[in-house]
Amino acid sequence: MSPRFENQVAVITGGAAGIGRHVALRLAGEGATVALWDVDQAALDAAQAEFTGKGFKVETAKVDVGDEQSVAGTMVAVATRNGRIDALVHCAGIVGPNARKITEVTVDEFDRVMRVNTRGSFLVTKHALLAMQPRGYGRILLFASIAGKEGNAGMCSYSTSKAAVIGLVKSVGKEFAESGITINAIAPGVIRTAMVDALEPRQVTYMTDKIPMKRTGTLDEVAALSCWAVSSEASFTTAFTFDLSGGRATY
Ligand SMILES: NC(=O)c1ccc[n+]([C@@H]2O[C@H](COP(=O)([O-])OP(=O)(O)OC[C@H]3O[C@@H](n4cnc5c(N)ncnc54)[C@H](O)[C@@H]3O)[C@@H](O)[C@H]2O)c1
Repeated sequence: MSPRFENQVAVITGGAAGIGRHVALRLAGEGATVALWDVDQAALDAAQAEFTGKGFKVETAKVDVGDEQSVAGTMVAVATRNGRIDALVHCAGIVGPNARKITEVTVDEFDRVMRVNTRGSFLVTKHALLAMQPRGYGRILLFASIAGKEGNAGMCSYSTSKAAVIGLVKSVGKEFAESGITINAIAPGVIRTAMVDALEPRQVTYMTDKIPMKRTGTLDEVAALSCWAVSSEASFTTAFTFDLSGGRATY
């Protein structure tokens, strides 16, 4: 059997670290050319060296997902250079204020989270669709969160921004349902990455205690579901948000 992603090209935002890097490693290991986008140039350089060292096909670009010019220009450049974009895995995101009530959150802090998480999801989805449409094939996977389904106390900006991601895939998945392009999301519970390590410990305890399996998810578990969701096998699911929460989500 040939590798699942042989001859395919995948864009992974937030691809220099955490979930994005891990999903990209698996996609590349299964044959894909991966385009890693991130705002962290040092992490991009390290990822470029790591992927190249493993013999993987990789390109990197410094892209702020909240900046339309940067997203649009880089998407066209990747599609032109490689002749195609088969998959987008959008992992770039920030948490913002946590362990703080709404009355302690400034509007600038709120706007910053919405800009990266919600506006960023809108922009990468829009420009990936423009790149994928001519070929009539594509897989778009966004990262929501259990916080978007259930709301985490102490994280109002983040919870709001991720609920919006769920709404975005519900809407756009239907708009493009007959196009050969699927648009889905994953809503993880707690996955141990730098993002979680940066949270207030009491916020992490609050979230992990709500998981019936009583543990955090692993990067391998995220990569397994993500890669299936952006494979050609995942052909009858769109406008959907997959659960990855150790039993926390009940809908
Ligand atoms: N880790 C978890 O427990 C968890 C749970 C639910 C949802 N998520 C979501 O999964 C995604 C990945 O999370 P993670 O834990 O790997 O986070 P992470 O902080 O480890 O990695 C996020 C990456 O995104 C990059 N980034 C931040 N702002 C950016 C921007 N404006 N443009 C481009 N890149 C940017 C960062 O530099 C970083 O490399 C996020 O959307 C996050 O909200 C994570």
